Amino acid sequence: MASLIIYYSQARGNTRRIAEMIRQATNYDIAEIETAFPYKGTYEEIVDQGKAEVSEGYMPELRPLGKILSGYDTVIIGTPTWWYTMAPAVRAFLTENDFSGKTVVPFHTHGGWPGHTLDDMKALCKGASFKNEMSVQFDFEGGSTLITPEDKLRDWIKKL
Ligand SMILES: Cc1cc2nc3c(=O)[nH]c(=O)nc-3n(C[C@H](O)[C@H](O)[C@H](O)COP(=O)(O)O)c2cc1C
Repeated sequence: MASLIIYYSQARGNTRRIAEMIRQATNYDIAEIETAFPYKGTYEEIVDQGKAEVSEGYMPELRPLGKILSGYDTVIIGTPTWWYTMAPAVRAFLTENDFSGKTVVPFHTHGGWPGHTLDDMKALCKGASFKNEMSVQFDFEGGSTLITPEDKLRDWIKKL
């Protein structure tokens, strides 16, 4: 059966970079979660907006994914960490879709404060089973320097 890589990436393209590494190694289909209305403003403004959104449990409107989930039995889903949990767009996506019977591989990128992102993602994927979850660390400044060793990433991707 088929596997699909789904990711959301906003600030630095970090989560996209990891999703693309998986795609290049596996040739799985890939799809990007996008908000209907892009975030605007500086990095600091979006960090503040994200804080308010996370604390309210806000879920933005999303653009259609462009892939039909029912065609895949394994879904690899990546999010950046926003305020110790998944980005609001990913909360919306996991809430709106049915993962029952699927195997979900959750991963996230973060800057040193991973919080409870993976547990929160798993709690929303009702009826799914989980394997090979992964935390990928980038630098503390919210930049795009990869901290997690590349061989650790490669070993993980091999399992997928
Ligand atoms: C709104 C917002 C909140 C963030 N909150 C956290 C956090 O709680 N913990 C952390 O380690 N990094 C946090 N970061 C940093 C991002 O998780 C990290 O840079 C991530 O790799 C960005 O992924 P992206 O480039 O795919 O959007 C935050 C970034 C933003 C924009």
